[in-house]
Amino acid sequence: MKLFLDTANLEEIREGVRWGVLRGVTTNPTLIGKEQQDFLPLVKEICSVVDGDVSIETAGDDTELLVRQGHEIAQIADNAVVKIATTANGLAATRRLSDEGIKVNMTLCFTATQAILAAEAGAYIVSPFLGRLDDVATDGLVALSDICEIYAVQGYETQVLAASLRHPIHVVESAKMGADIATMPFKVFEMLVKHPLTDSGFKRFTDDWEEAKPHLGELLPSMQEA
Ligand code: G3P
Repeated sequence: MKLFLDTANLEEIREGVRWGVLRGVTTNPTLIGKEQQDFLPLVKEICSVVDGDVSIETAGDDTELLVRQGHEIAQIADNAVVKIATTANGLAATRRLSDEGIKVNMTLCFTATQAILAAEAGAYIVSPFLGRLDDVATDGLVALSDICEIYAVQGYETQVLAASLRHPIHVVESAKMGADIATMPFKVFEMLVKHPLTDSGFKRFTDDWEEAKPHLGELLPSMQEA
């Protein structure tokens, strides 16, 4: 399962890239708005920093307008993916863009039926929103499980991107269900690596190493510095 960051913050994206595990980025109007920067230079910079897909969301719900925006977004960079909401007009725009070979991420997907439509429209990615379903007392993981099962049975090539992830369990369960991608805020990304036993164990090994070092004779040159 590929790990994406759900952010438009360049500092967070650069840190994810530094970790060597970041495979893409998703943005949305809310995340772009938070950065308070010029839109085009910001998304171009994100696309240049990330070695992987960068979803950039369209605005409005008019098919012609969405198609035009799709063409423009696709011109931003080779790794730019057009993000379109799962509406009837959005499906129509996705069909047209997909037929031209432009990659579309169908977003704001909350049901298996919407995910079937996204695949049938030729979407490159579909984004079920888990956390927002949880927020309205509907288990987002059940929807994701249904979508992953249907896509496997039907042999759909559209990638399933688990979105609106709020905590590490969402990430683990998405991986178990076979989601192709999980996108998450940097806060959740950081949680994936943290464990108190890793921290306490590392401290103990470091202290023991310091104590033992003078008695260990010849060390590897790089270990002298540790
Ligand atoms: O970017 C799409 C999605 O991940 C948004 O998540 O946390 O705003 O529900 P959230």
